[in-house]
Amino acid sequence: MKTQTVYLNGEYLPLEDAFIHVEDRGFNFADSLYEVTRIYNGVPFTLDRHLARMERGAGLIRFDYGVSRDEFATIIDELVSRNETPEAMAYIQVSRGRAPRDHPFPVSAKPTVLVMVKAHEPVPREERLRGKTAITTADLRYQFCDIKSTALLPNVLACQQAREQGAYEAIMIRDGMVTEGSNTSVYIVSDGIVRTYPLVNILPGITRSVIAELCREDEINFSEEVFTPQQLRAAEEIFITGSVAEIIPIVALDGQPVSDGAAGETTCRLIDLYADRVRSDCGAYTP
Ligand SMILES: Cc1ncc(COP(=O)(O)O)c(C=O)c1O
Repeated sequence: MKTQTVYLNGEYLPLEDAFIHVEDRGFNFADSLYEVTRIYNGVPFTLDRHLARMERGAGLIRFDYGVSRDEFATIIDELVSRNETPEAMAYIQVSRGRAPRDHPFPVSAKPTVLVMVKAHEPVPREERLRGKTAITTADLRYQFCDIKSTALLPNVLACQQAREQGAYEAIMIRDGMVTEGSNTSVYIVSDGIVRTYPLVNILPGITRSVIAELCREDEINFSEEVFTPQQLRAAEEIFITGSVAEIIPIVALDGQPVSDGAAGETTCRLIDLYADRVRSDCGAYTP
């Protein structure tokens, strides 16, 4: 198998040779941001929105990682071509860099910049429509969930809980309301309305922004409003989204089927609209 090439701090290296220092603030403090995007047909999907989200997060934590959107786009293109991976996912991580371990910002540390592009096997439509299962669990996170930092321990624990219970995703509940999944945005469909948690202390999902547009264009009612676990359980359809996951129907929740246990009509429609959007932006959608 071909060795994966990654980009680290200005160099293209074999994955096996790409190391980060033990005093990197990303490692010590999760003082670090990341992005994940899908590459279809060699073209990164919604890359600009991902990089804009990372710039916003960097502004909020007062961190200048010093790489422009054009530079990231060039690095990703280079990695796609070196790795020969037109169907792939790109992972970008920037940290405040290496400095002796101390909580305040270091005076002069060079940011760590990592980009990895890894082959991703597209999921065929029939398989996607079979859906996945989810559990509900407490949202134990802090007040900066809108910043896509690598401080993901509560997300990791929630997802692990789901997997140990034989489910795919953990849907989190905070103050009696459904917020989002451990690594996805969550939606319910009832009475012809797609509902999802408003952009208040959750991750502003890029796929969520595409879903909002697709709904608007297709005249599907889309509402950013809170909903309870009871509404979640009673929903006609539940689906989750993420840049790599795309749109996944949730067909069982906490061991109970959602409606008749099959992907719902609106979810299927959005899956098709999403495929059309990828085709129009990237030139092809493989599954
Ligand atoms: C907590 C959380 N919510 C939602 C998402 C989906 O975001 P996006 O659509 O930008 O991939 C993610 C993705 O990592 C996430 O970690």
